[in-house]
Amino acid sequence: MSNANEKRQAGEAAIRYVEDDAIVGVGTGSTVAFFIDALADLKHRIQGAVSSSEQSTAQLKKLGIPVLDLNATGPLTLYVDGADECDPYKRLIKGGGAALTREKIVAAASEKFVCIIDSSKRVELLGKFPVPIEVIPMARSLIGREIVKRGGHPVWRDGVVTDNGNWIIDVHGWQIVDPAALEGELNQLPGIVTVGLFARRPADVVLVGDKEM
Ligand code: 5RP
Repeated sequence: MSNANEKRQAGEAAIRYVEDDAIVGVGTGSTVAFFIDALADLKHRIQGAVSSSEQSTAQLKKLGIPVLDLNATGPLTLYVDGADECDPYKRLIKGGGAALTREKIVAAASEKFVCIIDSSKRVELLGKFPVPIEVIPMARSLIGREIVKRGGHPVWRDGVVTDNGNWIIDVHGWQIVDPAALEGELNQLPGIVTVGLFARRPADVVLVGDKEM
């Protein structure tokens, strides 16, 4: 089965976690786009969605799903999002679509994180996919040097500005044995806004196509 079909299956399968009257946290990407399409069929049963990006907000609004402010909703019961890599412990690399900061915020505000992927995203060890890091623009070179000290090869995603007005560095060449430790260490560096490792708060459920991992 093609990746696109598996993404569609995963997006549609995640609908079973949506409860009546819920406010649903919504991630970003091509897999989530299938989830949003399916969510539109239930829009009269939910209160609305909290979005993790301008891209998802546009799709939600186009389909008539109310987009709510996380500051007004309080904690969410459910967050649905894709990933770039997923290891056997449901730890993720995310941020291929540059939406990692809002994604991490909405994931942190949610009781259950359902991650939807196609089978190409499953890995034993995180790091083949370059780790996206959102940085404050003036700190780009500083953070680049810190990454080199830690054995990574930083590549600036030239021309990309995040929804928060920041830049993305993609880190190649890391084989990440302890992703939670690396995430914690990088979180301490001034200038880093968000690290695209979701290990300290991994997914709770991973759907690979329509099958739970
Ligand atoms: C965006 C993300 C996406 O979830 C990730 O890139 C997967 O995207 P896709 O579903 O298009 O493969 O983290 O920042």
